[in-house]
Amino acid sequence: MSTPPLASGPEGPDALRPLLATVLDALAAGTAERGGPLPAGGPDAVTARVAAALGDPLPDTGDPHALHALVRALAAGAADPADPLCAAHLHCPPLAVATAADLAASALNPSLDSWDQAPAASALEAAVTRALARTAGLADALVTTGGTESNQLALLLAREAHGSDLRLVCCAGAHHSLPRAAWLLGLPAPVVLPAPRGTLDPAALAEALTALTGPVLVAATAGTTDAGLIDPLPRIAALCAAHGARLHIDAAYGGGLLFSDRHRDRLAGLDTAHTVTLDLHKLGWQPAAAGLLAVARPDELATLHQRADYLNAPDDTEAGLPDLLGRSPRTTRRPDILKIAVTLRTLGRDGLGALVDHVCARAHEFAALIAAHPGFELYDRPVISTVLFRPAAAADDTVAAVRRALLHQGRAVLGRARLDGRLWLKATVLNPRSRPDDLARLLELVEGSTPG
Ligand SMILES: Cc1ncc(COP(=O)(O)O)c(C=O)c1O
Repeated sequence: MSTPPLASGPEGPDALRPLLATVLDALAAGTAERGGPLPAGGPDAVTARVAAALGDPLPDTGDPHALHALVRALAAGAADPADPLCAAHLHCPPLAVATAADLAASALNPSLDSWDQAPAASALEAAVTRALARTAGLADALVTTGGTESNQLALLLAREAHGSDLRLVCCAGAHHSLPRAAWLLGLPAPVVLPAPRGTLDPAALAEALTALTGPVLVAATAGTTDAGLIDPLPRIAALCAAHGARLHIDAAYGGGLLFSDRHRDRLAGLDTAHTVTLDLHKLGWQPAAAGLLAVARPDELATLHQRADYLNAPDDTEAGLPDLLGRSPRTTRRPDILKIAVTLRTLGRDGLGALVDHVCARAHEFAALIAAHPGFELYDRPVISTVLFRPAAAADDTVAAVRRALLHQGRAVLGRARLDGRLWLKATVLNPRSRPDDLARLLELVEGSTPG
């Protein structure tokens, strides 16, 4: 076998062109084969189909048709967020332009742990992260693999600033990655305040802050995972200031509202945080990963500094080569900023804001449809684009079974959330191409799957 072609270099584009055509054909064939939001038949059927397409994962002799066969199998077996009936999670359909940019990142393979592996990518990252941080009212931002890594980094920076007896205070509606980060970093057990209505209660927070004596990090959420709720950020910020507590805001979901003139005000108070989690693979239409941690005080990033002679020798740094190792706890790092930069420049704030407005409006219409339907109960009007509902008078077991039946049949991907002690079906509207008819169809499917 001759040497396989490389993706970059003078011959890279010509080598990629026919392969891309193969990938696109396979995506089309697999998507048509699936014919809906996810594959029918449940895990056993999907596993069998993948095994058939894969054959021996490491054969003695290679197969030139593997690219088509495996991409087709992946597409045929995908839960496709571009299908309006795939609406469970904060799992967005990526924009074509962002995905195309991501191909260039793979082809060139810059690695952001040293300037000599990523000259232009590092300059792009520095400029775009600062611009995004300023949009949130902070000073700088690190690129992360998503909300989880951003939350971990926020806790790490807080621990380094305040000591290892730092206590995390959050509410039951906060993302699990926050208490998990406290565990990972060896911090004391977090104080988790009850959140009967899903958000951080300022009265309960005031009580906790009064009772605690050591350093405290309060983590608020702008866009909860289960219901898309926004904690009362200005009141929380005022309490943190009064009690000398540090504030982190997890805006992994809600951060996208910053692009919208109509919805930006809901994030008032974001700029009072020490750190803010942003995540453009949620309300930002990026292929994963596209996380950010915005920081108010860039000097605090000094704690991430590392010296590794092969990457940032002191004389190289003195001679003016940017020292990138302190921009992440990772070493090799993809230029996820490229797809983000391309998206921001291509759509502009208006274009992204219009997408945000669209999904929020669709979620409101869906909620109105549910509220008007005697067969359904609506949890509440959506704050961002998450709608919680359930068949009226159904037991929790029935609600869970309806969701699983739709998954098994490959007809709809809905999420689930427990709020007010009851189980709800969750639709997270992130598809900017979804139409009112699509959501009406979703409701019909649930109705048709609910036993009489
Ligand atoms: C509020 C919130 N924070 C953090 C995360 C974690 O983000 P990721 O899955 O990108 O790590 C999520 C995920 O849904 C989330 O909803």
